[in-house]
Amino acid sequence: MDQKLMNVLTISFLLVLAFTPVHSSVFFDVTSAKYGGKPNTDITKALLNAWTDACASPWESTIYVPKGTYGLKGAIFVGHCKAPIELQVEGTLQAPEETGQVTSPDTWVGFRYLNRLTLSGGGTFDGRGALSWKQNDCNTNKNCKSRVVNIRFDFVNDTIIKDITSLDSKNFHFNVFACNNITFQHATITAPGDSVNTDGIHIARSTMVTVANTSIGTGDDCISLGDGTSQLKFTNVTCGPGHGISIGSLGGHRDEQPVTGVIIKNVTFNSTQNGARIKTWPASYGGLVSDIHYEDIIMVNVSNPIIIDQEYCPWNLCNKKIPSKVKISNVSFKNIKGTSTTPLAVNFICSWSVPCENVEISGIDLTYTGHKGFISSQCSNVKLATIANVTKALACGNYSPASKNHTEAHSPEISRSENQTVSKNQTETVAGNRNEPARVDQRKYRRLLMTSSGPESDDRFLRVTSSAPNNRSTCGWLQPRAIVQLLRGFWLPLHGWF
Ligand SMILES: *[C@@H]1O[C@H](CO)[C@@H](O)[C@H](O)[C@H]1NC(C)=O
Ligand SMILES: *[C@@H]1O[C@H](CO)[C@@H](O)[C@H](O)[C@H]1NC(C)=O
Ligand SMILES: *[C@@H]1O[C@H](CO)[C@@H](O)[C@H](O)[C@H]1NC(C)=O
Ligand SMILES: *[C@@H]1O[C@H](CO)[C@@H](O)[C@H](O)[C@H]1NC(C)=O
Ligand SMILES: *[C@@H]1O[C@H](CO)[C@@H](O)[C@H](O)[C@H]1NC(C)=O
Ligand SMILES: *[C@@H]1O[C@H](CO)[C@@H](O)[C@H](O)[C@H]1NC(C)=O
Ligand SMILES: *[C@@H]1O[C@H](CO)[C@@H](O)[C@H](O)[C@H]1NC(C)=O
Ligand SMILES: *[C@@H]1O[C@H](CO)[C@@H](O)[C@H](O)[C@H]1NC(C)=O
Ligand SMILES: *[C@@H]1O[C@H](CO)[C@@H](O)[C@H](O)[C@H]1NC(C)=O
Repeated sequence: MDQKLMNVLTISFLLVLAFTPVHSSVFFDVTSAKYGGKPNTDITKALLNAWTDACASPWESTIYVPKGTYGLKGAIFVGHCKAPIELQVEGTLQAPEETGQVTSPDTWVGFRYLNRLTLSGGGTFDGRGALSWKQNDCNTNKNCKSRVVNIRFDFVNDTIIKDITSLDSKNFHFNVFACNNITFQHATITAPGDSVNTDGIHIARSTMVTVANTSIGTGDDCISLGDGTSQLKFTNVTCGPGHGISIGSLGGHRDEQPVTGVIIKNVTFNSTQNGARIKTWPASYGGLVSDIHYEDIIMVNVSNPIIIDQEYCPWNLCNKKIPSKVKISNVSFKNIKGTSTTPLAVNFICSWSVPCENVEISGIDLTYTGHKGFISSQCSNVKLATIANVTKALACGNYSPASKNHTEAHSPEISRSENQTVSKNQTETVAGNRNEPARVDQRKYRRLLMTSSGPESDDRFLRVTSSAPNNRSTCGWLQPRAIVQLLRGFWLPLHGWF
């Protein structure tokens, strides 16, 4: 080859080298000699050291955990960092089985004060929670020790979690608090249906959170939203086993921020306790829930497919006679098909103090798979704005398609809903660590629950219920209080709104 050409080529090559941002991505392999991580050993130190270097790097960096199984006592990755970081986990990280051996009392893996983080790699965060579920007495013991969340994001922005599995968390799988613009893409969340308090993704005080192409099977809510959440989108999610997707519980704290702008689209619920749910405490603080849209939903073997419960009160420790003050409005349930395992497929128990407004139900095609009567709906204190393509039985007796002139006040039947499955002994998380960042304690919440005990109330079982015509209703249960409630619950909205 010509010498001149060689020189030109060499110079060009050097120039290219010089101007290539070789530092565009720095690579920190936790199993490299520098960090010394090895499969089948604990890599807590290696990982934290790699993080320190990555966080200090002025260039984008990748922390790499290759295939293999590693122990991890716990790690909290704290910013602010100088440049975006990708934590690429191909292997399986395992938590200690004993809660007490996890480094932090409430977090196994935590990310705080970060921007532009990517968590990826196809790996697994195995919380090894089985022992913790057995020991979980958080429903009765306020000093309980079973609160270790698998993965927490606190004050984190512009972050992507993709191709990651959270397995058998001791408490929640993911907790998202005070974050903006977080996307879960193709995540997998798995724990047995009878595991305790293992909510899939809990989100509070955060905006722009997307969960897409994700499968969640767990022992508590698949996704639950605390206060101060807006612009959320959940699409192509499968949920089951689990307790469904829930807005709330809300109203348990003073000064809660609104929950607004939630789109839940193309979601399949499979053998879940609830499907599309909104729940607030009775005797609650004020709050606002609006612009919530459940759309294109498939229910398979779901106990309570569509439910708004403003008297949510596990263990009957609250005073249901005092209504919820959380205002729910602009909610839609559209194109929801499938099967219900209880006859009460649509259940709206709204607050008589602040009734639900502008609720749309359309294209509801649910069938009851059991033999205890016929499919039915129950609506108290709700103003249904649009009812279209819904059978009468599922629209609280309203004809459908709805139009103001044709909507007929259907004579209500009064029944005691014997098949109510929102049981008194629910084992869901009450306080959890839902609305708080790491380490904020929940005494306020507990006080609310503990001080507001009262005689068991059966009021919730006395409702205006509409069902298929030949469903025999049980009457003869009316007590004065129930009659008052009936008047409030039905006739007022009837005259005011229909
Ligand atoms: C995340 O975004 C919020 C709102 O834009 C901002 O206040 C906060 O400082 C950001 N967090 C970090 C770690 O930069
Ligand atoms: C959200 O975060 C992603 C990932 O960092 C980023 O690409 C995107 O621009 C962010 N979106 C907004 C609206 O800031
Ligand atoms: C979900 O998957 C679809 C199809 O594979 C893709 O188009 C979409 O971008 C994914 N969603 C997110 C948020 O990555
Ligand atoms: C839906 O999510 C699943 C993973 O749960 C994925 O395999 C599938 O490609 C996604 N479909 C679309 C259309 O995004
Ligand atoms: C909707 O969800 C189902 C089941 O998860 C999936 O097969 C389908 O591809 C999804 N469609 C879209 C448009 O995401
Ligand atoms: C529901 O789950 C069962 C058992 O896990 C599974 O066999 C079935 O295919 C699922 N159905 C749908 C529609 O996803
Ligand atoms: C229906 O769901 C229940 C849990 O609610 C579950 O035990 C049962 O196996 C499911 N049946 C089918 C056919 O999937
Ligand atoms: C509900 O929607 C109506 C009209 O679509 C709008 O005027 C109203 O402000 C909304 N309410 C809330 C609380 O967002
Ligand atoms: C009525 O609802 C069913 C079930 O959701 C749907 O398949 C059908 O297309 C809807 N029809 C109209 C006219 O909206």
